[in-house]
Amino acid sequence: MSTAGNPRILMCPPDHFGIEYEINPWMSIQQGSDPERAAGQWRALERTLEDLGVAIDLMTPEKGLPDLVFTANAGLVYRDTFIASRFRFGVRQGETPHFEAWGRARGFEVLTPPEGMNFEGAGDALFCGETLFAGYRFRSDVRSHHWVGERLGVEVLPMELVDPRYYHLDTCFCPLEAGVAVYYPGAFDDYGRAVIRGRIPTLIEVRAEEAQSFSCNAVVVGRTVVLNQGAPALAADLQRLGYATRTLELSEFIKSGGSAKCLTLRVDGEEAAAWKAAG
Ligand code: ARG
Repeated sequence: MSTAGNPRILMCPPDHFGIEYEINPWMSIQQGSDPERAAGQWRALERTLEDLGVAIDLMTPEKGLPDLVFTANAGLVYRDTFIASRFRFGVRQGETPHFEAWGRARGFEVLTPPEGMNFEGAGDALFCGETLFAGYRFRSDVRSHHWVGERLGVEVLPMELVDPRYYHLDTCFCPLEAGVAVYYPGAFDDYGRAVIRGRIPTLIEVRAEEAQSFSCNAVVVGRTVVLNQGAPALAADLQRLGYATRTLELSEFIKSGGSAKCLTLRVDGEEAAAWKAAG
C-alpha cells in the first residue's frame, strides 16, 4: 500500500447519518440527532486523527444507510483479508455490499461469513497482540467467531456480552497494545472477565459512569488514545501508563450508540501484532 508505515483508517462522512430506527438502547427516533453538530464532531475526529499522522480512507455516504458512518462495523481486516460483516438487523444489511466493494477496490481478498451467521466486524472482534477477542450475543454470534478464527488461522477468544447498552465488544473493551487493554468489567460475565484477566497482564478497569460516556470506544494511534469526553479517571490511568490522550465531543454519535472507535476502521493491519512481525 502506498503510504506504507502510516496508520490508515477508514471513515465515512455523516452526510446521511441520523436516528431512523432503534436497534440499541441508546437510539431514540424521537430524540433524533442534529446533523450539523454531528458533521462538526465527525470533522473534529477526522482532523485529530490526521494530526496524529493517520491517512484517512473515505467511504462514500449513502442515503438510507444512516449507520454507514460506523465503519468499525464494515468488517475485520487481517493482513490481506477483509471479512465483511453480516449484520443482525435488516436495517443495516444494505451496508454490506458497499463495504465489500470498498474491500475489493482496496485489493483485499474479501470473504463474507455464510448465511445464518451474524458478524459485525471490528465492532465485535478486536486483536490484542495476536489473539482475537470476540464479543457475541447482541449482534455477532459465537459461531461466526469460530468461522472467522478458522479462516484467518488465528486464536479466537469468544466472550458473551451481558449488558444491552454494551452490545458491541468495542463499547466495553479496548486493546492498547499486546498485553495491555482497557475494559468495563460490568459488560461481561464471570467467564469473560476471567478470560480478559487471564490473558492480558496490564488492564485498566473503567468505572460504570465513565463506561457510559463511551470511553472504552477509543481510537488508539501509537501511544495516543482518542476518546469521547467525560472519562477523567480513565484519562489519568492512561497517562500513568505513558499514553497521551485527546478528548473530543462525540455526543451526536452516542445518540446512535457509537463513539470514536465505531467511526473508524483500522485498515493497515497494525492492530494485529502478527502482521507487524511479518511486515
Ligand atoms: N447505531 C449503530 C448500531 O446500533 C451503532 C453502531 C456502533 N458501532 C460500534 N462498532 N459499536 O448498529
